[in-house]
Amino acid sequence: MTQTDVLVSPSILSADFLHLADEIRSVESAGADWHHIDVMDGHFVPNLTFGLPIIRQIKSVAKMPLDVHIMVDNPDEVAPGYVEAGADWLTFHIEASKDAVALAKAIRAKGAKAGISLRPATSIESLKPILPHLDLVLIMSVNPGFGGQAFMADAPDRIAAIAAMAEAAGVRRQIKISVDGGINSATAKFCRARGADVLVAGTAVYGAKDRRLAITTLRESK
Ligand code: DX5
Ligand code: ZN
Repeated sequence: MTQTDVLVSPSILSADFLHLADEIRSVESAGADWHHIDVMDGHFVPNLTFGLPIIRQIKSVAKMPLDVHIMVDNPDEVAPGYVEAGADWLTFHIEASKDAVALAKAIRAKGAKAGISLRPATSIESLKPILPHLDLVLIMSVNPGFGGQAFMADAPDRIAAIAAMAEAAGVRRQIKISVDGGINSATAKFCRARGADVLVAGTAVYGAKDRRLAITTLRESK
């Protein structure tokens, strides 16, 4: 991908849950490419959000793809259900999966794109054998669990390392590199410069007075 092709995936974690349908439509009309949907189970991360029923309802109003990020202890068991509920992209954590290759294959077999995510402390080396089975790698630039945290400065280096690893494996073109946590117009630049294809942003989009401007600014940050 070239830098102009970057996708913006606003995280609904920062949306007004009492008016979710309006919020979904609002970021779509402001130019969002995807909807980033954070599923948290209160075990893998110290926060609890929502699950399948809410995702089914979001799917019924969303025009753009659902980019579902499951932060749960048992992705191998629950991931297929999220695809059935409407996930177009389904990203699970490498730290939680018992068999990441089998799970990526299962997600693809159900018709979704398979993504893997890593906590900031997890070595990217662990990705090597899994890369050929993936469509997306989600680099966490905060410790997962909450919106509104500060961007971790080593994330751009991790993006560059994944890009190089994918290049060496001959799969760079099939894999999108996404970055999640503390993304704003300043941090987006560092991520894009090192190879990010997708910018996930909660606070920077849903918290902005002018969401169209916020999305455009992220998209054009170089
Ligand atoms: C954190 C979530 C993120 C979060 C990002 O665990 O995975 O998607 O919503 O929020 P901001 O952009 O506010 O850091
Ligand atoms: Zn997320």
